[in-house]
Amino acid sequence: MTMDAEFYSRVAERFGGYFSDARSTDVFADGRPDAVFDELATALGTPQARLLDVGCADGRSLLRISRPYGVVTGIDLSPSMLECAARYRAEAGLPHVTFELRDAAHTGLPDGYADVITSRRGPLIAGEFERVLRPGGVVMYMGIGEQDARELKETFGRGQNFDSWNGRPLADEVALELSDAGFVVTRNQAFLFEEFYHSPDDLNTFLHQVPIVDNYDSAADKEAFDRYVAAVSVDQGVRLSRHWFIVQAQKPTAVEPSHP
Ligand SMILES: C[S@@+](CC[C@H](N)C(=O)[O-])C[C@H]1O[C@@H](n2cnc3c(N)ncnc32)[C@H](O)[C@@H]1O
Repeated sequence: MTMDAEFYSRVAERFGGYFSDARSTDVFADGRPDAVFDELATALGTPQARLLDVGCADGRSLLRISRPYGVVTGIDLSPSMLECAARYRAEAGLPHVTFELRDAAHTGLPDGYADVITSRRGPLIAGEFERVLRPGGVVMYMGIGEQDARELKETFGRGQNFDSWNGRPLADEVALELSDAGFVVTRNQAFLFEEFYHSPDDLNTFLHQVPIVDNYDSAADKEAFDRYVAAVSVDQGVRLSRHWFIVQAQKPTAVEPSHP
């Protein structure tokens, strides 16, 4: 297992899946990114279409969009997340969805297998996605932007993509990676929003669920955590500023050779 999958296996074992019960009230200025992603991915589904979701974790996000598709496969490197996914699939009663232990970088799936590939906060392997998608197929990626939880990371002095806030937007890097692999980028949409955690305990729980602050440790990080909470607490709760993005791209259909 990679470090990343080990982290997510610990999350699955501790919280019973990818999501913790940390309570927050979220305020979306640019729309709700998960809802926008669900809507776009659902609209691409047909009874003939095959959907591949990479980094599916506990599968709940995939199950929400799976109904219009004929065949749905979620892959992940964390066996514990996949066990949770099998349980949620059984509860949802969706037998056309399967979950498999596969590496997004080397899926082992045939060329042109999928009509749609989704990766929501999961890996982006542009070359492998291009190979596994059929011509005309679509890739939808949801990523974490460079401004995400910036004030928190500045307070801790570390974190995911630390100090990337003044560089090239991460969404543009993803778009470039996809176009370099031969895709035509059709959407690049940013979402800035605020989460207000109902208590410091809720934020503490959340920080154990995500890799925003690497190796987060409630005891060792207490001083930075308390400083952050004191600086950002308002009537609505403990504020965490988020920045996510959606990039969508299409693999061109094969170009017919022109006749002289
Ligand atoms: C942030 S979670 C994804 C959450 C999920 N997509 C959702 O929206 O609910 C990232 C997941 O990607 C998985 N992962 C990381 N690298 C991977 C790889 N190379 N191949 C497959 N899965 C991978 C991790 O194990 C983890 O479960």
